[in-house]
Amino acid sequence: MDTFTIRRESEADIPAIRDLTSRAFVGKPYSNQQESSIIESLRDADALTFSFMAVKGSSLVGHIAASPVTISNGAVNWLAIGPISVDPQRQGEGIGSQLMRRVLKELREINAGGAVAVGDPTFYQRFGLEHVADLVLPGVDKQYFLAMPLADSAMPSGEVSYHRAFCS
Ligand SMILES: CC(C)(COP(=O)(O)OP(=O)(O)OC[C@H]1O[C@@H](n2cnc3c(N)ncnc32)[C@H](O)[C@@H]1OP(=O)(O)O)[C@@H](O)C(=O)NCCC(=O)NCCS
Repeated sequence: MDTFTIRRESEADIPAIRDLTSRAFVGKPYSNQQESSIIESLRDADALTFSFMAVKGSSLVGHIAASPVTISNGAVNWLAIGPISVDPQRQGEGIGSQLMRRVLKELREINAGGAVAVGDPTFYQRFGLEHVADLVLPGVDKQYFLAMPLADSAMPSGEVSYHRAFCS
């Protein structure tokens, strides 16, 4: 397995992030193929709280984003993890896991209340996210929506609202 490093995005990385994200989500049943546009809208709205890249040599092989959400019960400082993408040729090498661990570490460092994610549950459950009966993301099938409190936060209940960049 080749080694890779994880670092924050810079402006020069934007086209590569767009390309990687578009390629990674082709054919995924939980995807509307808008993920690359969502990342750009978040960035334009100054709501891309985290944008980490996994880099091998000069090539982008993985990317993860995080952005703020609001929760109807008033829970504060929760963030959505994702989109997360790994180059289809490099999946299964641990890159996605490293990106998840990095973003969760950063979320803990900013004292985030918790994290939510939409996607393949078997992937996100490996990192502690879980289905929550009383926490819903309207319009998203419950089987693809997961959450995890961080720090000493309790699991909230209610409706989650992602940033408007996700409402394409
Ligand atoms: C999901 C994704 C980011 C995982 O990245 P990755 O680098 O392939 O993941 P890892 O190599 O760290 O794999 C970690 C584990 O999760 C498993 N896994 C990987 N992708 C998975 C998926 N889509 N669903 C379920 N399990 C998955 C791997 O088999 C591995 O398990 P193992 O350690 O028992 O072998 C990547 O497959 C991807 O870009 N998918 C397309 C985009 C996407 O669907 N993103 C939304 C996230 S659900």
